[in-house]
Amino acid sequence: MESKKIPEVILNTGQNMPVIGLGTVANPLPPNEELTSIFIDAFDVGYRHFDTADIYKTEEPLGQAVAKALDLGLIKTRDEVFITSKLWCSDADHDFVLPALRKTLQKLGLEYVDLYLIHWPVRLKNKGEESIHLNEISAENMIPLDIKGTWKAMEECHRLGLAKSIGVSNFGIKKLSQILENATIPPAVNQVELNPSWQQRKLGEFCKKNGIHLSGWSPLGAYKALWGSNAVMENPILKEIAHSRHKNVAQMDHSIGIQSYHFSMSQEGAWRIEGICYTYTGPGTFD
Ligand SMILES: NC(=O)c1ccc[n+]([C@@H]2O[C@H](COP(=O)([O-])OP(=O)(O)OC[C@H]3O[C@@H](n4cnc5c(N)ncnc54)[C@H](OP(=O)(O)O)[C@@H]3O)[C@@H](O)[C@H]2O)c1
Repeated sequence: MESKKIPEVILNTGQNMPVIGLGTVANPLPPNEELTSIFIDAFDVGYRHFDTADIYKTEEPLGQAVAKALDLGLIKTRDEVFITSKLWCSDADHDFVLPALRKTLQKLGLEYVDLYLIHWPVRLKNKGEESIHLNEISAENMIPLDIKGTWKAMEECHRLGLAKSIGVSNFGIKKLSQILENATIPPAVNQVELNPSWQQRKLGEFCKKNGIHLSGWSPLGAYKALWGSNAVMENPILKEIAHSRHKNVAQMDHSIGIQSYHFSMSQEGAWRIEGICYTYTGPGTFD
């Protein structure tokens, strides 16, 4: 199958990141072989950015897919693929960051990740081998986050060449400011929930001013997912504009997300999209 080159953004580390990536959350989680085969298909159709995390349990099958993609010649070298992974909340501690990244790299079978993110600005008690899962999070499992110490350890991961870029996820302006106050290396990316019904404009302006790329998860509003809503896929304005251009809402939504329209968009259409009001019901970012 002929694959299309996905547009890229240049991060503040000088690294190029494909703006569209394949999310690897799956619930229920299929067996590793099935996931590896799905990721190989994604390579085949042109995906070059994959988004995983310790908590998703998809690092191992993704690593196997990278190895297989190299074997099959879908990519010629490791640096043709961009791998993002994330530090889970029970490892958000100065002393646990480096060991957690080393574990991630072992699972991926790689020498470095392209981007390593603090998954949430939340710290959970570390109970040893098994990470506390999302549905086990309760106030008694939480402990205060040491942003300064955790970020220092993230910077060390970068200096050691184990993470080409470092960043955060689900951070609001206040917590980002706390990092920036003490950082030697500023975050390259803040990955947050971002879509036409949850545009996060203030956060977007703040990130732009500080050279941080704002990257969006659940661009379709996590349609049909447990934590999601139909605020994007069933939005009457998006439906009307998409249909008038013979596109579907998902195609149009992705064009908005990467600000690259493969069809004409009038100023009025752009304003109407900008004006889509917020009907959000999910977790949002933490301030
Ligand atoms: N950093 C974080 O804290 C965080 C949090 C959540 C997610 N993420 C990342 O973001 C990724 C994406 O999240 P998401 O899956 O919620 O994203 P999403 O793109 O908002 O939603 C995907 C949903 O949209 C449906 N869909 C996809 N293409 C469609 C189309 N063309 N027409 C109609 N429906 C369509 C899918 O349904 P079907 O399954 O039925 O196709 C799926 O349920 C995750 O895998 C993860 O990597 C990060």
